[in-house]
Amino acid sequence: MNASNGQYFDYLVLGSGIAGLFFALKASQHGSVGILTKKHRAESNTNYAQGGIAAVTSKHDSFEMHVRDTLNAGAGLCRESVVRKIVEEGPDRIADLIELGMRFSEREIPGFPGEIELDLGKEGGHSHRRILHAKDMTGREVEQALLAAVARQSNIEILENHFGIDLLTTRKLGMDGDNRCIGAYVLNSDTGEVSTYASKAVILATGGCGKVYLYTTNPDIATGDGVAMAYRAGAPVANMEFIQFHPTCLYHPKAKSFLITEAVRGEGGTLRTVDGNAFMERYHPMKSLAPRDVVARAIDNEMKRSGADHVLLDITDKPAPFIIDRFPNVYSTCLGYGIDITKEPIPVVPAAHYQCGGVVTTLDGETEIPGLYAVGEVACTGLHGANRLASNSLLEALVCAHRAAARLGAQDLPKPPSRLPLWQSGRATNADEMVVVSHNWDEIRRCMWDYVGIVRTQKRLQRAETRIANLQEEIQGYYWDFIVTADLLELRNIATVAETIIRSAMVRPESRGLHYTLDFPQTDPSWATQDTVLRRKPV
Ligand code: FUM
Repeated sequence: MNASNGQYFDYLVLGSGIAGLFFALKASQHGSVGILTKKHRAESNTNYAQGGIAAVTSKHDSFEMHVRDTLNAGAGLCRESVVRKIVEEGPDRIADLIELGMRFSEREIPGFPGEIELDLGKEGGHSHRRILHAKDMTGREVEQALLAAVARQSNIEILENHFGIDLLTTRKLGMDGDNRCIGAYVLNSDTGEVSTYASKAVILATGGCGKVYLYTTNPDIATGDGVAMAYRAGAPVANMEFIQFHPTCLYHPKAKSFLITEAVRGEGGTLRTVDGNAFMERYHPMKSLAPRDVVARAIDNEMKRSGADHVLLDITDKPAPFIIDRFPNVYSTCLGYGIDITKEPIPVVPAAHYQCGGVVTTLDGETEIPGLYAVGEVACTGLHGANRLASNSLLEALVCAHRAAARLGAQDLPKPPSRLPLWQSGRATNADEMVVVSHNWDEIRRCMWDYVGIVRTQKRLQRAETRIANLQEEIQGYYWDFIVTADLLELRNIATVAETIIRSAMVRPESRGLHYTLDFPQTDPSWATQDTVLRRKPV
């Protein structure tokens, strides 16, 4: 396997979603930026976000109400000071985004013909309309606007098909002085070469880990790479037990991971059993617009009770032109599967959607390892607590990416040595048994879905722990015996992330937010301020 020295960048960003691109744009004022992305530049979780960005932009809303809704959804585990800052800085970052070229949906102000205002959507857990959106394709529009802005900057370079393998720290390399992160080993999937990239700081913006589960709304790239890399490097990760299951993923044999945005419920969509009965009033006063943990558990319960393999989401009582105009993506995609959402209810099931925990960071994205930053879904800032409020994630990515760039720009960071050790590929030979990789992928995802899903028990968690540990041993052997490929690296990462989710779930002896266990069905007030923090010896 070829190994070489890669390029030097002042700031090395892993990931090309909203967090990575927004950080790059801000940091490019202070130095050179390299964005490494493991597939095509637009292939990110952001690109698939439908709902939008929660921010206070209406005079009928207030910071206080947004803070309160976030704290309520977070089930007692949010860090209030972090929530406040992110909510209060939101409108400025939205203004930046608009300045960069983002176009949000607008509407005519009722009663004021010709006067236009932002059209604000509503989602679960929000007491007010505050979701800025671009119809139901917000993420795609954000991604395009940011990529276009990045293309206008001469000191940002995007390298596609470049996969971060492991972080380089001075401790790992046996260098003198305090530990710091100074780069990464990176696989170029086109050439198969592994290069050593050096930088003053590495910024993880790798998104979440939906692919750890069999059913997910996330695209294939969501394999928890940043959490796995940081964990291996010795950075603490927290609250990984809080995996958010989105209540409404399209249920159709041919549809893979298609989300039906919560905004459909925000506009009046009602959840019904397959017999047509609305059931959410039995679970929460906010009915179909209750916080996601409540809705996902209610659906799970209804499916188990009736034996049905899905429930229904019904928006047929709204006028067809409204539905088609507000949800063009959902409408046309469902129609492609033979479902006309203006005339019939949509079959839906819950699916893994968002990782509320992650690499422990400050509001400015700093991890415990100097020189290593994490922004967006990969990070755990304390905003989401035990359950993220819908559409708070893109907001967090904007605010924290901005702050991380400002923090880094204000520092005089040491430049790493220009020649760092090359990648050692162990006993690598060509992998000719890819069936082992695909089998282990499936086994991990099914195990996580069956044993570490919406409803957990200690016994199921123990079972999952044993299986994942066995698989990890096999993967580690395979990883050293064979030439690394993107598939193998992703497998190693989903196994590592699965381990963190299981271990975190096992140490929380209560049910809170997204972590629900039949063994401890109540919330325990003594755990109200306790994050679940895991740390592994660096390897
Ligand atoms: O339902 C949605 O559109 C998802 C929004 C979110 O996850 O924030």
